[in-house]
Amino acid sequence: MKQDKPIAIFDSGVGGLTVYQALRRTLPRERFIYLGDTARVPYGTKSAETVAAYSLQNSQFLVSLGVKMLVVACNTASSYAMETLVDHFDMPVLGVIPAGVRRAVALSRRKRIGVIATESTIQSQCYQNQLRDIDVDIVVHALPCPLFVPLVEEGWLDHPVTREVAQIYLAEMSAREVDTLILGCTHYPMLKAVISAVLGAGVNLVDSAEAVALEIGSILTALNLERRNTAAPEPDEFYVTDSTAKFQKVAEIFLSHKLENLHHVDLTLLPKID
Ligand code: DGL
Repeated sequence: MKQDKPIAIFDSGVGGLTVYQALRRTLPRERFIYLGDTARVPYGTKSAETVAAYSLQNSQFLVSLGVKMLVVACNTASSYAMETLVDHFDMPVLGVIPAGVRRAVALSRRKRIGVIATESTIQSQCYQNQLRDIDVDIVVHALPCPLFVPLVEEGWLDHPVTREVAQIYLAEMSAREVDTLILGCTHYPMLKAVISAVLGAGVNLVDSAEAVALEIGSILTALNLERRNTAAPEPDEFYVTDSTAKFQKVAEIFLSHKLENLHHVDLTLLPKID
C-alpha cells in the first residue's frame, strides 16, 4: 500500500538530521530513509547546476527504494533543485524554504526579517523572493554565515569561539533591527541558544526544520498519504556516500545517540538520467 511506504529525506551531509529529528518527533508513525551526500558536501559553496545535478542523483537513489514522498532537507538544494526534482519524480517533493518563510511572516510584527544561510542559498535569492512574494513591504536582510557549519560539526555548540563568531556575524542583524531571523541552513538550529543569546529574546528564531516538519503532517493528511499500518514502523534507515564512521561521529552531536542502520552507498553506480 502506497501509504505504508517510507518518507525519503536527503541532505548534503549530516546537517539534515535536524530535519530528520523534527520529522521523527512530529510523525512518530511514519518511517524515514535518510541520505547524506557526504562525499560531495558542502553544497553551500557550489553552483546551481552542480547542486541540482547532485540532488537529482540523490533523489534517484531514494526513489529506487520505493518511497512515497521526497523531503529536501538541505536549504541549498531547496534553493536550486526543486524544479528539477518536481519535473523528474512523480511524487510529492518538498523543500524547507516555503515553510520557513510562512512561519517567519506569521511571527514578524515589524516586517523586518533576517535570513542566515550558506553563500549559495543567499545568492539564489530564494528566501528573499519568497518573503517579498508574500508581502512586498517586508524588509529582508540576508547574510551568509559559513563558519557556523564547521563549528557545529566540531561540536562547539556553546564554545567561546562560537559565541564570538555569532556576535560578529549577527551584529548587523541587531543594527538593522530585525525582529525575526530565519535559520536557513540545516546546521543553524543547533546554535539556537547562542544565536538567541546574541540577539536577545525579543527576536523570533525560525527553525526551518521544525517549520517543515509541522507542515508535512498536514500535507500527508491532505494527500491521503498517512501511514495506515497500525504496527510500529520498521527502524529508519540511513545512507551516506562517504565513510560511515565519520558520519556516525558527527551524527551523535546532532542526535545525542548512536545511529543504527547506517550504510554506505556509491551513487556513481546509478544509471544516468537526463
Ligand atoms: N545542508 C546545507 C544547507 O542547509 C549546509 C551544508 C552544506 O553547505 O552543504 O544549506
